[in-house]
Amino acid sequence: ALERTLSIIKPDAVAKNVIGEIYSRFEKAGLKVVAAKMKHLSRKEAEGFYAVHRERPFFNALVEFMTSGPVMIQVLEGENAIAKNRELMGATNPKEAAPGTIRADFADSIDANAVHGSDAPETAAVEIAYFFASTEIFSR
Ligand code: CMP
Repeated sequence: ALERTLSIIKPDAVAKNVIGEIYSRFEKAGLKVVAAKMKHLSRKEAEGFYAVHRERPFFNALVEFMTSGPVMIQVLEGENAIAKNRELMGATNPKEAAPGTIRADFADSIDANAVHGSDAPETAAVEIAYFFASTEIFSR
């Protein structure tokens, strides 16, 4: 099915100057960037975005890291965009990520893991609405 997913290029990958290399992987896989913004998340924004993880032991470190510098946030659109993006990203822990995936190539640790991607249609809808108004998304 034609889907949309929320993607975030995290502070570590923005600092490494690999936004373009990561966009190129999305495009080569047939995913289109239909919305994008760079943003330095406030603590409240990061906490709200990751609210489902609030009780997890890594929550504070996650919020700390996600507010440590600007992130690049985009909506990707394409056939099976959610699963396709997760394949491109590789496993959450870069040590377990398959060779050639974004996390294997650009990530340093489970916290500084280069990218985020929605994990299901329901979370994709919530995450996209968290950052973008419908008028800011350009379906094509
Ligand atoms: P992300 O896809 O952005 O969703 C939550 C993030 O928490 C995850 O990527 C990791 O960067 C971070 N994280 C840190 N420790 C863990 C862990 N043990 N399990 C899952 N995610 C973790």
